[in-house]
Amino acid sequence: MSPPILHAEGLRYAYRGVPAVQEVSLSVGEGEIVALLGANGAGKSTTVNMLAGVLRPAAGRVLWRGEDIAGLPAHRVLERGIALVPEGRLIFPQMTVLENLQVAGAAPRAAAEFPRRLEEIFGIFPRLAERRAQPAGSLSGGEQQMLAIARGLVARPELLILDEPSLGLAPMLVRAVFDLVRDLNARGITVLLVEQNLHQSLRVAGRGYVLEKGRVALSGTGAALLEDPYVRQTYLGM
Ligand SMILES: Nc1ncnc2c1ncn2[C@@H]1O[C@H](COP(=O)(O)OP(=O)(O)OP(=O)(O)O)[C@@H](O)[C@H]1O
Ligand SMILES: [Mg+2]
Repeated sequence: MSPPILHAEGLRYAYRGVPAVQEVSLSVGEGEIVALLGANGAGKSTTVNMLAGVLRPAAGRVLWRGEDIAGLPAHRVLERGIALVPEGRLIFPQMTVLENLQVAGAAPRAAAEFPRRLEEIFGIFPRLAERRAQPAGSLSGGEQQMLAIARGLVARPELLILDEPSLGLAPMLVRAVFDLVRDLNARGITVLLVEQNLHQSLRVAGRGYVLEKGRVALSGTGAALLEDPYVRQTYLGM
């Protein structure tokens, strides 16, 4: 692994006394694609929400380039270069594609270079460029997911956290999302990819962590996890 830029240690979180994340430690190296995997309710979203400042950990540290950012609000975390594309897209349906991107463009980290950045983003997502004046709610599911990812890119993140970007998409669009993850990574963005789709994610990810009941059950390289007998039986139905 390349030297970690993100290192989370001993993270815990409970919702009204019910533990959701019991003990999660993970690292992300510069330039990596790391997959965070697990079944429904395993604690994936809770974990990345703690990394991105959406939730304050009950315990543990989140070191970003050596600085403990645990408990910082999300906009401060974003200023440091970590962007979260949350589960469920959460775009503004009545606003146009462009307006959705402009909202993100108001962040301090994004504001100065926004016009140039916007052109770059439209270069990556030509379908969004064509539909820039269209209400976001009228986009197809896949296009809305692209918009959510595009919005995450506005602030020029060093680390992009994607929470289940392929959820609810048709197989062809799922492939497009994974191709996009590869493409963004090739452009120098480090990616933490939350997925239930183990097979596809482990093919793009260099390494992965599998969560079960709020703990890291196993971790390793994408190739090793794909060949792991337990993973194959439990998650890949082989
Ligand atoms: N806002 C909440 N209030 C109460 N419990 C919650 C809340 N959010 C999550 N939980 C619970 O915490 C546990 C972990 O949920 P989390 O959303 O982190 O799982 P996940 O791995 O992201 O699952 P999924 O793949 O379904 O998105 C689950 O048992 C869930 O029911
Ligand atoms: Mg989730």
